[in-house]
Amino acid sequence: MSDESIKEETLDPSDWSESRATGQRMLSDAFDDLENIRSRPAWKRISLEAKAALHEAPPRNPQSLNSVYEDYRTNIEPYALGNRHPRFWGWVIGSGTAIGMLGDMLASAMNTNSGGFEQSSAYVEEHLIGWFKELFGFPAEASGLLVSSGSAANLTSLIVARDAIVPSVVGEGLAAIERRPVMYASEEVHNSVEKAVGIIGLGRSALRRIRTKDDFTMDVEALKEAIAADKAAGLHPVCAIGTAGTVATGAIDDLDAIADVCRDNDMWFHVDGAFGAMAALSDSLRPRVKGMERADSLAFDLHKWLYVNFDAACVLVRNPDAQLRSFSIPVSYLSALPGGVAHGPRTYGEMGIDLSRGFRALKAWMSIKAYGFDKYARMVDQNVAQARYLASLVSAHDNLELVAPVPLNIVCFRYVRAGLSAGQLDDLNERILVRLQEDGLAVPSGVRVRGKFALRVANVNHRSRRDDFAALVADSARIGNELALVT
Ligand SMILES: Cc1ncc(COP(=O)(O)O)c(C=O)c1O
Repeated sequence: MSDESIKEETLDPSDWSESRATGQRMLSDAFDDLENIRSRPAWKRISLEAKAALHEAPPRNPQSLNSVYEDYRTNIEPYALGNRHPRFWGWVIGSGTAIGMLGDMLASAMNTNSGGFEQSSAYVEEHLIGWFKELFGFPAEASGLLVSSGSAANLTSLIVARDAIVPSVVGEGLAAIERRPVMYASEEVHNSVEKAVGIIGLGRSALRRIRTKDDFTMDVEALKEAIAADKAAGLHPVCAIGTAGTVATGAIDDLDAIADVCRDNDMWFHVDGAFGAMAALSDSLRPRVKGMERADSLAFDLHKWLYVNFDAACVLVRNPDAQLRSFSIPVSYLSALPGGVAHGPRTYGEMGIDLSRGFRALKAWMSIKAYGFDKYARMVDQNVAQARYLASLVSAHDNLELVAPVPLNIVCFRYVRAGLSAGQLDDLNERILVRLQEDGLAVPSGVRVRGKFALRVANVNHRSRRDDFAALVADSARIGNELALVT
């Protein structure tokens, strides 16, 4: 029996054609923003008005979508991080593409929970991961999972590593273990690895930070010594992490040598290839990441050097059973059925932390199909060539110097001037960096390399041109000269 007096509501638009028109305007504006991004400052400080507008009391009553969108246009969109801009090279933050934007929109339009089952998104993810397995030389039976970030990919990998080498942890926890598990990475390792080692319960001090050589790659002899010393002390070496492209300078560890050490010591070999794994796209760079194909697990981002829109990363695990051991807990309410929805390639909740998850694979699958891997290879080569070009301009400049080699796409440099102390130079370079950003000229980030503060350009930007790097050099030197006069 229906009760006519009950007024049922929905969140669907009351006027579909008006909503559609607003949506079309949003999409058109987003394309305009991307098309004209070069004419904007690389970064703009958030205005006081915009900050104030974002302190509204929780709204109880509806506002029109048009007015909400005006709020976005005025107070939100203009104050983005800047990574769409051709002169943004800070941290390692990819620039995204129009296709990635559309992929995100379509994924949201489908609004599927991409946790598995018999649905297209599960097959797209499996298919995409198959392409990555081929790209990185992993066996076809390896497993994989899209995750939110390189940090999540490292964490997922180290959980699997811990459980593969010390399986009792899965059921009994760490308290039941006699020998403390320890892991190894170079002192240049990204802090997400240290964070992961802490999160998985080993304690951050269980990450042994192995010294690096002059080229910032791990000293593998020191790794062997550290493992021997830990074994002698009654500890349990379980995993070594090689980095393909360190965050500070882009150094690529000798992955083959680390793989050998892991094999000889019954240890798990994990590679953090957050951005550097993508060197495998390029015929000329691929030999540099040799050994990566021997990893037990590999973490890499799609939102860095594959230019996919945020967020998307991936983990590959050579032995699928190892991944299942860590994450699979059979329960009736998620069991596969002989047909219907609960049937399909796999449930991704058995492969990682998330059960419910968005359809991240779509934007990556669409992008790779639309561009083709050869185009990505050329973009990666272009970014490396641009980094070398920037390095050559820096080297040729009287007031600039490189503070690290440039093996890949990262350039660390600083302003120098005779007569200034080490502390004054650090301070001056910090101020140059802030001025570059605040004047909207360019966004490098900062880093300390062997104690010296430097400007750091991580080039994962497909919009940059050689002129942009020439401008960075000119602006850095000009600002340096101006500030040095008052130092
Ligand atoms: C080498 C390396 N590993 C891991 C990460 C963390 O990746 P994400 O920022 O996607 O969490 C980064 C980020 O720059 C990185 O450079």
